[in-house]
Amino acid sequence: MSRVAVLKGGRSLERQVSLTSGARVEDALERLGHEVAGIDVGADLVARLGELAPDAAFVALHGRDGEDGTVQELLEALDVPYTGSGVAACVRCWDKVLAKHLLRDAGIPTPDFHAFSETAFRELGAAQALPAIERQLTFPLVVKPAAQGSALGIKFARTAADVPTALVSAFSYDRKVLLERYVPGRDLAVSILERDGEPEPLPIVEAVPNEKHFYDFEARYEIGRTRFVCPAELPDAVAEEARSLALATYRALGCGGFARVDLMLHEDGERLFVLEANVVPGLTETSLLPQAAEAAGISFDALVERVVAGALARSAA
Ligand SMILES: Nc1ncnc2c1ncn2[C@@H]1O[C@H](COP(=O)(O)OP(=O)(O)O)[C@@H](O)[C@H]1O
Ligand SMILES: [Mg+2]
Repeated sequence: MSRVAVLKGGRSLERQVSLTSGARVEDALERLGHEVAGIDVGADLVARLGELAPDAAFVALHGRDGEDGTVQELLEALDVPYTGSGVAACVRCWDKVLAKHLLRDAGIPTPDFHAFSETAFRELGAAQALPAIERQLTFPLVVKPAAQGSALGIKFARTAADVPTALVSAFSYDRKVLLERYVPGRDLAVSILERDGEPEPLPIVEAVPNEKHFYDFEARYEIGRTRFVCPAELPDAVAEEARSLALATYRALGCGGFARVDLMLHEDGERLFVLEANVVPGLTETSLLPQAAEAAGISFDALVERVVAGALARSAA
């Protein structure tokens, strides 16, 4: 039996989801016989960890602080072993631009892109480069903030007239934005879970839009407009390629414990593109990683046990 602190909540945009993930993880850890303390992460985090002196921390924080390496850095400083990816991998995955450069360098397909900071527009006249970028990426194109976790900041620009508003929207979430080639096709997610330190891909989940509004791209991502199919119905060769790209992504970005890799399968049915990797994927009833684990015959408790085992192994080392 170990003492495990579950870090949840926090101040990010994904606070509510994190509270749900965290509560579920706490229940599972209790059923597994651990001594559990939930911490709603705030200004007393360091003090709470000092009092509790846990054997490990389960990071169930999504978004800022929990996925960008901030909390991990604190846990390193306090010498508390923790679940999931280390600081460097969090930094790489949180910044979609950095992640995409690393993927491209590793030969892993990711949609073509150009990324700019606010200063490029404010001080270097980047707006004048937009026509060249639009010619390269073609329409529709995707505009998104570099920092992940806020599908809210993502806009699909159908024409050049849509780009300035899309940029303003993305810049309201981050100082760096990404203009990306649009990949028409199917939305896939491959979760990775380690077993004794070896990452294994779980069955693929497909997000299927309920209604086919061709021009209404945003509608696809609204709650209730999407249903999830797991395992995704794919030809074996495509499924195999998606799993191997997800594994390559996990390794190239240096992830640990578990992660979820989001991909697009082009409507040609063959080409796959990696969009991003999430280091603290959702763990709620409806989240993709637990669904994928379930499809692989791994119960939620078994999933939590495997993730926490990774952290406890580090504490024993
Ligand atoms: N280049 C793209 N082509 C087509 N769809 C995209 C593209 N980028 C993002 N999307 C859609 O938007 C969703 C969210 O994008 P993603 O890059 O995973 O950001 P996040 O999940 O962090 O908000 C994807 O799952 C996909 O449905
Ligand atoms: Mg995503």
